[in-house]
Amino acid sequence: MTTADLPMSLLHRHDAEVAALLQREDERQSATLTLIASENHCSPAVREASVSRITDKYAEGYPGKRYYGGCEVADAVENLARRRALQLFAGAEEANVQPHSGTTANLAALLALAGANGRIVGMALKAGGHLSHGHDKSHTGVVFHPKQYGVDDKGLIDLDEVRAVCKEHQPKVLIAGGSSYARNLDYAAFAAIAKEVGALLLADIAHPSGLVAAGVVPSPIGHADVVTMTTHKTLRGPRGGMILARKDIAKQINSAVFPGAQGGPLVQQIAAKAVAFGEALQPAFRQYQLRVKENAAHLAACLLDAGLDIVTGGTDNHIVMVDLRKTDVTGADAEARALAAGLSVNKNAVPGDPRPPMVTSGLRLGTAAVTTRGFGKAEIARIAAVIVGLVRGEDPAKSRLVVRELCERFPLP
Ligand SMILES: Cc1ncc(COP(=O)(O)O)c(C=O)c1O
Repeated sequence: MTTADLPMSLLHRHDAEVAALLQREDERQSATLTLIASENHCSPAVREASVSRITDKYAEGYPGKRYYGGCEVADAVENLARRRALQLFAGAEEANVQPHSGTTANLAALLALAGANGRIVGMALKAGGHLSHGHDKSHTGVVFHPKQYGVDDKGLIDLDEVRAVCKEHQPKVLIAGGSSYARNLDYAAFAAIAKEVGALLLADIAHPSGLVAAGVVPSPIGHADVVTMTTHKTLRGPRGGMILARKDIAKQINSAVFPGAQGGPLVQQIAAKAVAFGEALQPAFRQYQLRVKENAAHLAACLLDAGLDIVTGGTDNHIVMVDLRKTDVTGADAEARALAAGLSVNKNAVPGDPRPPMVTSGLRLGTAAVTTRGFGKAEIARIAAVIVGLVRGEDPAKSRLVVRELCERFPLP
């Protein structure tokens, strides 16, 4: 079936230009395998909630205490999302489901816990941390006073270095978590360091939040004072953020989210978060997360078997970081070849990367989205073979056929 055969939607009749672009994106995703570790494919029910009429509603404030009338349904939606979030993340005391994104969640948590000009310590971007952990181009590097820690030459967090940076900088907040860290974090050790220097611990589980919810990787809850996350990566919800906090700091967190970091909440996204949390509470979600992890471990093993290097030698979660330094291919080259073959990936710096950020020597891969499509170990092995072929200089057109066949066999949800 081609686009021309589809029944004409309201949007097509109303705005053909935008409709055509969205249709193109639909086709792009259908015909591409997403191996970008921060992406996933949410369910049609999540998508339906996120385009619902409640998008029209202003609901500044919190349930029962809004600055606008007519919020009774918005209140019920937000309370439902909060309740489900607390069921999902066992041991969490309070949930704020309003952050528009992971970055806003971090800004709000840091505003609440460190205050303006407050000292913070997080992982450096080039070591695998996130911009919103105090990078100088992020507002978290402007509003707060950051110092950063890195990783050792194997790509692992060195807790002695974390402690040394904290002792020197005396932060109010220590941040644990990253964007391209494939190993479990020792949250108890981070909490002990935070305690030693009188800091609070913020765990950013933007990446592994789905794995944490399903109990297949360690949870920071009980160790961290506050936990931030995105809802659109492994958690497989709509684009957005969330904060879990201890009861005694929840009030500060709430006022740092609104009015501190943002205005009216996106109630349609909160409704979609509630749907995603409901899905994540089903037994099938745990099975899905176990497969995500198993697929990532298999991907790393297949690439290692074929002679490629993997940062830290493997993975504990959904991320596989390929180190291309031994080859004559840069991260940017590998990304371009993969895209030509229909694999959506991103170049990424590896620890100690000699190349600039727009080139890099690594590829970051993730298995959340292809596992949602139904991939198991057999399909992962075929994708690993494609990646190895591309790195060795095989024609992407040949790989495109394999990718196309897999896309057709495993359609989007
Ligand atoms: C660790 C971490 N924190 C925060 C974020 C920010 O999320 P968002 O893009 O929703 O602002 C990301 C996004 O990739 C992330 O990896």
